[in-house]
Amino acid sequence: PHKIILDCDPGHDDAVAILLAARHPAIELLAITTVAGNQSVEKTTANALKVCALADIRHVPIAKGAEKPLRGTPTFADNIHGESGMDGPTLPEATMQVSPLHAVDLMISLLLQSQGDITLVLTGPFTNLALAMQREPAIVPKIKQIVVMGGAIGLGNVTPGAEFNVWFDPEAAAQVFACGRPLLMVPLEVTHQALATEEILQQLQASGRPVPRFVADLLTYFAGTYQREFGFPAAPVHDPCTVAALIDPAIIETREMRVEIETGGEWSRGRTVCDVYGKLGKAPNARVGYQLHAGRFWELVLTTLLAYA
Ligand code: BDR
Ligand code: CA
Repeated sequence: PHKIILDCDPGHDDAVAILLAARHPAIELLAITTVAGNQSVEKTTANALKVCALADIRHVPIAKGAEKPLRGTPTFADNIHGESGMDGPTLPEATMQVSPLHAVDLMISLLLQSQGDITLVLTGPFTNLALAMQREPAIVPKIKQIVVMGGAIGLGNVTPGAEFNVWFDPEAAAQVFACGRPLLMVPLEVTHQALATEEILQQLQASGRPVPRFVADLLTYFAGTYQREFGFPAAPVHDPCTVAALIDPAIIETREMRVEIETGGEWSRGRTVCDVYGKLGKAPNARVGYQLHAGRFWELVLTTLLAYA
């Protein structure tokens, strides 16, 4: 199985990524680390703990990470994820304690102890990994690969030109894209094809089981915000696309290219500038997804979620 650290900001779709990673046999989930993004890191950490309580995930350490981006003050996504960061369903209280280690220290220690076989999956802003690389550069060659949900080839979702996770902390994203390790970028073009249609929600509800029903409630709330904010017919389930692409690479079609992060810019701070036509003449630093095989994706996600008690 792929050993992964899931660095996230739950977050409706992050919660689904956690559930997929914790249950699928092709993934060995070593740790969940949290970051400020969709909400404060206190809230995203509490949400991670509650999801694990509901799904009876007990063996995975959960460590709290950065509370703000490398530069400036955080702006949370209340409009998309609500006051709690995971509005909609009711959740049980946490049963596990948060790790005594800071997320950055846990990341560093797992990577240093590893055989170079850990994949980092980032589904929130990239602050924790940037901090870890700054504090302990020796982790960089130990990273097997990085899979991120973030950026867009074309249109953004928080500004016309920028996607939320990269926009929240562009300096961190720039460091991650420059680190030299293999990187798979799963942009909005891909995740907007992962729509949780009415039919999918019904299958989750109909199971009558707590975990799939929780996901149905989450995605029903999420569909409401996406309808209101973007006029979408259903919720795009961004973050689990990363884990799904690891499990089954054929789920996402990719192209290698150079990606630069706009850290200045009057209108485009946080934009992932994707050099589709090789205009910069620089070596590629990422594989960028552009197409999702939605049927295959949902089959994998549904099968895994329906396997929960
Ligand atoms: C990303 O931002 C958050 O709203 C989601 O959890 C996802 O990680 C989409 O832009
Ligand atoms: Ca997220």
